[in-house]
Amino acid sequence: MSDKITPQPKIMDIALYQGGASKVDGIENVVKLSSNENFAEAAADLHRYPNTDHIELRAAIAQVHDLDPERIICGVGSDEIIAFLCQCYAGVGDEVIYPEHGFSMYKISARAAGAEPIAVPERDRVVDVDAILAACTEHTKLVFIANPANPTGTMVDMSEVERLAAELPDHVLLVLDGAYAEYVEGFDGGASLVAARENVFMTRTFSKIYGLGGARIGWGYGPQEIVDVLNRVRGPFNLSEPQLAAATAAVLDLAWIEKCRDDNTHLRAVLTDGLRALGLAVDPSFANFVLIQLKDEAQAIACDAYLRENGVIARLVAGYGLPQCIRVTVGDEAACRRVIRLIKDFLEAAA
Ligand SMILES: Cc1ncc(COP(=O)(O)O)c(C=O)c1O
Repeated sequence: MSDKITPQPKIMDIALYQGGASKVDGIENVVKLSSNENFAEAAADLHRYPNTDHIELRAAIAQVHDLDPERIICGVGSDEIIAFLCQCYAGVGDEVIYPEHGFSMYKISARAAGAEPIAVPERDRVVDVDAILAACTEHTKLVFIANPANPTGTMVDMSEVERLAAELPDHVLLVLDGAYAEYVEGFDGGASLVAARENVFMTRTFSKIYGLGGARIGWGYGPQEIVDVLNRVRGPFNLSEPQLAAATAAVLDLAWIEKCRDDNTHLRAVLTDGLRALGLAVDPSFANFVLIQLKDEAQAIACDAYLRENGVIARLVAGYGLPQCIRVTVGDEAACRRVIRLIKDFLEAAA
């Protein structure tokens, strides 16, 4: 383990939470009375505290992704894992780097931890490894990149990510956010890079391809020492039993994920091709949305309003530094065709 990537002072003073046991070897029908639960009137198991080590979910994730379960940490969405990373590794006087159009929680969590978020330029809406390396200082603690990225949908080559991991200063942890990794066939989200190096951490989520955004479940995979540090600040009951059960069932349903990925790939092409045929610039997307470039900010706002008036809610992304763009999620075939037709009508009316 790198002895240069160090947690904030005092984090290691927090003792790891010791959960009340929920299993007794050799005895079935164990009654768990070790966590001051309220046995009031509940008929189902919701009156019991959930298990704190998430062992079944971690085992299922490990089995499906061929990972070490000990090095997995589960959180309330990957947002919570991002927050833990900032809380543990970045404080006042430290810097957290992210690409200029990067996901908003990197900046928010860095600031919440007292650190300075540093946005670095991208190259045509793709992560620019040289720009990140050039932005690193002695104060840099974390670098976040999402692959594929939100809201651009673009990917940076893994060869470039490997170069980034190899060339970062020793004291910097690279966080690979794989929220949309499942949409890319054969892509491991960076897991093999985590396995090969001591300075790489991966985050994943059940919110996207698994369709469990409202359930709030995510996970991280990284060097054992870093997972142990994050577990010191993790609330022992951060995930409820329904969350754990939903995620465990979802991760094991490989056929469903494959179907969702195939459908998305097909319909994303329908949407992209249809929009490009209207003369619009659309970056190649690797996720479940496309980023459409309009002429300027005024046209993007007008187009978004027109879609809304006609019952389609898309997303303006000026807050991500892309004021001339609209992000549209890949819906079903009817929804994709409806978006294309409405934007065609909008452009014709504007001409
Ligand atoms: C790139 C990226 N990372 C992380 C997340 C957070 O997802 P969640 O907290 O739902 O796991 C999102 C959600 O939009 C995202 O786009």
